[in-house]
Amino acid sequence: NTHIAEVKAFNAESKKEVEAFRIKYLGKKGILNDFFASFKEVPNDQKKAFGQAVNALKNTAETKVAELKETLEGKQEEKGIYGDLSKPGEPIEIGARHPISIVKNQIIEIFSNIGFNVSEGPEMEDDWHNFTALNLPEYHPARDMQDTFFIQTDPDILLRTHTSSVQVRYMENNKPPIRTISPGRVFRNEAISSRSHCIFHQVEGLYIDKDVSFADLKQTLLYFTKQLFGKSKIRLRPSYFPFTEPSAEVDIYWGLETETDYRITKGTGWLEIMGCGMVDPNVLKNCDIDPTEYSGFAFGMGIERIAMLLHQIGDIRMFYENDLRFLEQFKSSF
Ligand code: PHE
Repeated sequence: NTHIAEVKAFNAESKKEVEAFRIKYLGKKGILNDFFASFKEVPNDQKKAFGQAVNALKNTAETKVAELKETLEGKQEEKGIYGDLSKPGEPIEIGARHPISIVKNQIIEIFSNIGFNVSEGPEMEDDWHNFTALNLPEYHPARDMQDTFFIQTDPDILLRTHTSSVQVRYMENNKPPIRTISPGRVFRNEAISSRSHCIFHQVEGLYIDKDVSFADLKQTLLYFTKQLFGKSKIRLRPSYFPFTEPSAEVDIYWGLETETDYRITKGTGWLEIMGCGMVDPNVLKNCDIDPTEYSGFAFGMGIERIAMLLHQIGDIRMFYENDLRFLEQFKSSF
């Protein structure tokens, strides 16, 4: 009976312990065989009770061994599927925002601080919004400046080549004063290299009100470059865009501190970061805004280029390869 109590109380953590227990009771030289061997020495009147007690012990021991084996195997299965459920949890990996999104959000923040809102439009555009309304009528030679992807055979439908199309839509639907920036993806049928890609991102800006001058444009650019780059040594080079007059290209002086600076600025320290100008009166007219009453400026920049400078990225293709070793470096809170 003491044996039965011991068997019932037994517990095991491992299969090894169960096996040792089985050998102790049920093995060839185990306790039970000893009992069976001593059976003949038991006085006849006690044989029945003795036999019953030994059989009860045998049954109890066998049941116990079977039970323990089953629960231990069950636990092992659980471990196989779920790991050790008593362990503390593994930390969850936190993702990173894409560098294009980070820089886009920074640009939006800077302009929203001076009263610009954000406007968006379709990536698939019609000819009017991407070209004609922007003072680029059919057969205008400047259309060739933007290598356009057309949608199958319909020459009226295309992938927008700039987000100036959003500015047209905005002017059509809103009356001045207008202060809006239009971030978005644009498409150009260009050869892919370390410096250019056929899909990239732009932020364009538009400011229309009474008495807006080129000086306002320049001050806005100085403010913007100071906020984003921490420095605002810029130069404006006369340029040409059909939708602005006069037009200029904006270069920022970045310096040549690193090899990447050298590569991105082609060894000059200067990098062209955007185009800009005073909105052409024809564009205002096309959007039902009276150019004798209102004037304005516009600008447009490529986000990739700016992100390359800010984050020292030497090849534009890195943005689209989804290589985690690249993306994980942008665990930023912006
Ligand atoms: N839309 C021009 C481009 O994509 C940039 C630009 C915008 C230039 C506004 C002048 C004014 O190249």
